[in-house]
Amino acid sequence: ERSYDASMSIPKAELHLHIEGTLEPELAFELAARNGVALPYADTGELRAAYLFEDLQSFLDLYYGLMAVLRTEEDFEDLAEAYLARAAAQGVRHAEIFFDPQAHLARGVGIGTVVEGLGRALDRSESAHGISTGLIMCFLRDESAESAMSTLEAARPYLDRIVGVGLDSAEVGNPPAGFREVYEAAAALGLRRVAHAGEEGPPEYITEALDVLGVERVDHGLRCMEDPELVARLVRDRVPLTLCPLSNVRLRAVDALEEHPLPAMLDAGLLCTVNSDDPAYFGGYAGDNFRAVRQALGLSPERLRDLARNSFVASFLEHDEERRAR
Ligand code: ADE
Ligand code: ZN
Repeated sequence: ERSYDASMSIPKAELHLHIEGTLEPELAFELAARNGVALPYADTGELRAAYLFEDLQSFLDLYYGLMAVLRTEEDFEDLAEAYLARAAAQGVRHAEIFFDPQAHLARGVGIGTVVEGLGRALDRSESAHGISTGLIMCFLRDESAESAMSTLEAARPYLDRIVGVGLDSAEVGNPPAGFREVYEAAAALGLRRVAHAGEEGPPEYITEALDVLGVERVDHGLRCMEDPELVARLVRDRVPLTLCPLSNVRLRAVDALEEHPLPAMLDAGLLCTVNSDDPAYFGGYAGDNFRAVRQALGLSPERLRDLARNSFVASFLEHDEERRAR
């Protein structure tokens, strides 16, 4: 392959990125040592060897387990700093970053520690890395709606740092509708709304996220392709989908990258974006995902450019900021 590949260099926004999913094995061991946390792996090689997932749940078990090393503001700062440096090297100019406060609170780490720690790295991101940022607080859908509501309450002092709310964790059996009230409360606070839907769950969960939660953007949304009427609606309303191709392969949402529906989704007129989800676990950052789909699916340079443009269109950047980022 000799032709020029703009996958890494093309300016892009990343809209589906769990900051806890950027925890590389090396940093995990460094933080474990710093905090006196024992990990059930001998070394980074043994940890990496455990990254063979059957499905979303088998990944989530490891992902939540490894979070044990994240304890202080400095830990969250180091985590975000490492992500931003890697993202900058792959052409990311704007990042809307998910975090999972309930997963930390469960270990006695308050939302203030998480937000202030991440904020230290985010505050210098534009000058240090040329990346503008926003934080999206995710609710865990396998926890109760009451827990989500009290998390939103706990976030009140930090809302100036948070652009929106999301919904993640184990999808099947945890449909969006249960979170109606907390999404209404979030909207009343001026927060933007997104939700994971149609990753492992059925197309009905996507419809529900739109109708009941009022989401402006769907995370994954892969399984919309099973429902032509839903596809027509997403096209008509220009609802962005934040696809994560390498994640879909590793979590077996698709059999192989060559079989990913991205080209069919673009042909259908869907506003698709390409993102990394949990790059430390799934084999690559944003540019790696662009490169992988370009190679596996034979995307033209024009399609690559469309995907990059879509990422800014689908972002929560105001339009003058959007122009500057590009
Ligand atoms: N949490 C982190 N990554 C996730 C994903 N891909 N789906 C649902 N919850 C997640
Ligand atoms: Zn995700």
